[in-house]
Amino acid sequence: MIIAVDGPTASGKGTIAKALAVHFDLPHLDTGLLYRAVGRQVALNEGDPDNPQDALLACDFPDELLEDPVLRSEETGGLASRVSVHPAVREALFTRQRAFAEQDGGAVLDGRDIGTIIAPDAHVKLYITASVEERARRRWLEMTGREIEIPLAEIEEDIIRRDNRDINRADAPLKAAPEAMVIDTTALHKDAAIETVIEAVEAALR
Ligand code: DC
Repeated sequence: MIIAVDGPTASGKGTIAKALAVHFDLPHLDTGLLYRAVGRQVALNEGDPDNPQDALLACDFPDELLEDPVLRSEETGGLASRVSVHPAVREALFTRQRAFAEQDGGAVLDGRDIGTIIAPDAHVKLYITASVEERARRRWLEMTGREIEIPLAEIEEDIIRRDNRDINRADAPLKAAPEAMVIDTTALHKDAAIETVIEAVEAALR
């Protein structure tokens, strides 16, 4: 069984995808991490993330880079969003994601184009969303918890910028697959969101 989980940044899709993987005992791939690794590798190469050749070269990142905590930073998230607009980068990362989706027994993948491009054949497709204000608030709380001081307004601006880039790029833009279940987590706490999604998936599989 393939479960596709898409949605914008800080919507809760990663947390939900992890919980689904545990619940259904499936392996999980956070595909955003692959784009983050490419973004980080461009920076390490002192390249330009907006240059398609520099971005493609960075797709050769070493696997150890995926373990680097710097990949989780806001800065790397911004670089990831920039390199992800290049069709050659998306093509270079396709095979790895598709192979993960096709493994025996199935998988959970989360990202922006899982239900539309990577696994249009997924058995269950989810699109997780939340308001910009709530996503900014969550990110701000998370960063404050890590003792990173940043104004809420700055995070909100960054989220809007990333949403615009992810939604408006020509190749594999962020969007819900027509048959996806859309779940808005704005008013839901983490545990309630997880419970709602697990119930929705179980109902869809009945
Ligand atoms: O989910 P994330 O915040 O880690 O993703 C970082 C960026 O990577 C996101 O802004 C766009 C890109 N991305 C993508 O284009 N396609 C995916 N399947 C996953 C992420």
